Amino acid sequence: MRIMVVKSYHEMSKKAANMVASQVVLKPDSIIGLATGETPLGMYDELVKMYTAGIVDFSEASTFNLDEYCGISKDNPQSYFYYMAKKLFDHININRNKINIPNGMAKDVEKECIEYDEKIKSAGGIDIQILGIGRNGHIGFNEPDIKFESRTHLVNLDEDTIIANSRFFDSIDEVPTKAISMGIKNIMHAEKIVLLANGVEKANAIYKTIKGKITPEVPASILQLHRDVVIMMDEDAASMIGDSIYED
Ligand code: GLP
Repeated sequence: MRIMVVKSYHEMSKKAANMVASQVVLKPDSIIGLATGETPLGMYDELVKMYTAGIVDFSEASTFNLDEYCGISKDNPQSYFYYMAKKLFDHININRNKINIPNGMAKDVEKECIEYDEKIKSAGGIDIQILGIGRNGHIGFNEPDIKFESRTHLVNLDEDTIIANSRFFDSIDEVPTKAISMGIKNIMHAEKIVLLANGVEKANAIYKTIKGKITPEVPASILQLHRDVVIMMDEDAASMIGDSIYED
């Protein structure tokens, strides 16, 4: 596990964007695993800037998003599909046929999950996976007590997650209670993982992820076993881990 503590959200976003861009420059047909939520917004802004400046070309790259809410359509502004379009895809030259996001409106969810796993496999697996982290230590929508061997699956969202995500909705009653999420196995199979965290509300989850025991109660703790993972955070998110593991 490589721990990087940076001064600000802006610095974290720039460094994360550089990691994604370097991956695509070195391997133009890279398979990129993407996350939603507030955390990666700055990284997406930076990637759009880099594309606009001609630094990176996404025309051959493919993307797989971690998750999508169930029961809301692609054109609903609360959907992760809509989020990705507005924050990244509408502003770069990604091939629309190479964008993959679970279909939250699928009639047969089990089939949707199996097909999503197959698509990841036939694309050749994920080269770089971007992750955020929930306050409860979730990654994607892999909530506490997840089975580490899970692949893409239907999730019942934790109450803590519903409360945390209600900030994006008009009322808590509108927050979907189910989602489709890549599983821990999909995430752990990525060649490289970059987990981003900022803000003091993530400090406890980060502490448990890095220094706690590996347990399904803290889904992100499994990352301790991945061979190439960078946990990058601002000083607030790092505030519980102590000085010993500060990189710079
Ligand atoms: C959401 C997403 C995760 C995200 C996490 C943290 O529920 N499913 O992929 O990493 O919660 O979100 P935020 O970055 O808004 O704190």
